[in-house]
Amino acid sequence: MTLRLGSIAPDFEADTTQGPIRFHDFLGDSWGILFSHPADFTPVCTTELGLVAALEDEFAQRHVKVIGLSANGLAEHEQWIRDINEISHVKLSFPIIADADRKVSVLYDMLDYQDATNKDQQGVPFTIRSVFIIDPKKTIRLIMTYPASTGRNFDEILRVIDSLQLGDQYRITTPGNWQKGDDVIIHPSVSTEEAHTLFPKGVKVIKPYLRMTPSPF
Ligand code: BEZ
Repeated sequence: MTLRLGSIAPDFEADTTQGPIRFHDFLGDSWGILFSHPADFTPVCTTELGLVAALEDEFAQRHVKVIGLSANGLAEHEQWIRDINEISHVKLSFPIIADADRKVSVLYDMLDYQDATNKDQQGVPFTIRSVFIIDPKKTIRLIMTYPASTGRNFDEILRVIDSLQLGDQYRITTPGNWQKGDDVIIHPSVSTEEAHTLFPKGVKVIKPYLRMTPSPF
């Protein structure tokens, strides 16, 4: 099954550093981020998970539950978390899925088929750097795949969450490089006449198809 934006995030059972979970029950009514890294005890991954741990309050403020994954076992995860905490001065408290049998990695198409260096000792591919943002209806709202060589920008993931949550609440979209608090774009489905009622902070018509309004927040 190909996962696309709009697909329902497949449910699964897995062992994690915080005990066994059923994914949909873990998410509950929250937003979710499921993200994979190639392998424990690797340099880029160590920096990435330290960053996510440092942003845990930011995710919580947005009602987002975070869960990591790699094709390593629980013992490795637990030992590696100690390194992450030490190096990044954090207390990593989100669960990491132990997917040594690649069950979830296959379900979410996370395995690395192009990087010959990203394999275990038996030559079986590890995971790429995938990110899935999932909304409270379990719908996939963003899919991102980065190569093993490039660490992700987790501020960008927070930015997308802000944009999606704002767009779900108001009939708006967000321009390129938008940051929380910046002006937003009035959705094309809203007439300019309707916009004046919906957006009392003001409507700026740049072109008939490009109308801006101050952030509703
Ligand atoms: C890393 O996290 O540094 C890494 C992992 C797998 C392949 C290449 C780099």
